[in-house]
Amino acid sequence: MFKIPHIIAHRGASIEAPENTIAAFRVAGARNAKWVECDVTLSADNKCVLIHDETLERTTNGTGPIHQSDLATLRGLDAGAWFSDIYKGERIPTLTDTLETLYFMEMGANLEIKPSGCDPVRLCHEVIAELKRAKDLPILISSFDDIAVAEMRKHAPEIPCGWLLETLPKNWKAEYDRLGASAIHIDHAALTPVSAAEIVKAGVPLVCYTINEVDRARELFAWGVTSVITDDPAKLITAIPHRPL
Ligand code: G3P
Ligand code: MG
Repeated sequence: MFKIPHIIAHRGASIEAPENTIAAFRVAGARNAKWVECDVTLSADNKCVLIHDETLERTTNGTGPIHQSDLATLRGLDAGAWFSDIYKGERIPTLTDTLETLYFMEMGANLEIKPSGCDPVRLCHEVIAELKRAKDLPILISSFDDIAVAEMRKHAPEIPCGWLLETLPKNWKAEYDRLGASAIHIDHAALTPVSAAEIVKAGVPLVCYTINEVDRARELFAWGVTSVITDDPAKLITAIPHRPL
């Protein structure tokens, strides 16, 4: 598998620009982030779109569940003004737009599959079709959704897939092996020096979310963490330009 960069911009540089928008991905690149983390789901007409929530209210001027709006409706919404007037007119990106932007910027992504009420199997098949057209991009899939992880492993075993967790189960290694995952992605608050060491000793790449403080990122790297996902890539990359050995 490709090398996972030590810092990944959560939903783009989401402290500086509206999350999960092309603007946020561009700002992340401008801050020297090599990868972004972003959330993909389906519109009512089964197009892959990037948005975190199940509903439109928080990050757009629309209302209701994403999976009940078609792409034309979603693309007509403003996904930037809620964050700042300077981002007024920013749109909900399609996965196609996102992959093109990342390719142009020579970046990669941790693409989190979020069914958010849509059919996880259909979502995986649409994502696989898109990723097959973007073979040169380093893409690490992840999902909290067990059906999505299983479906990705079954139909696209060549695409690395992180096992996304809020807490580490006791029998994590057996389940990790059974899934055929390529990394563990876990809430940093659920990690201890002991559990981190166990994962690292097993040779499993360890990705943590969401860390916005430099001291905490340094501590996690000292525990052997591979990569931290942050809203503030500018701050973390400036302070920690390389993963400490
Ligand atoms: O993928 C890491 C992190 O993004 C998972 O949580 O809710 O921010 O998508 P959330
Ligand atoms: Mg996410």
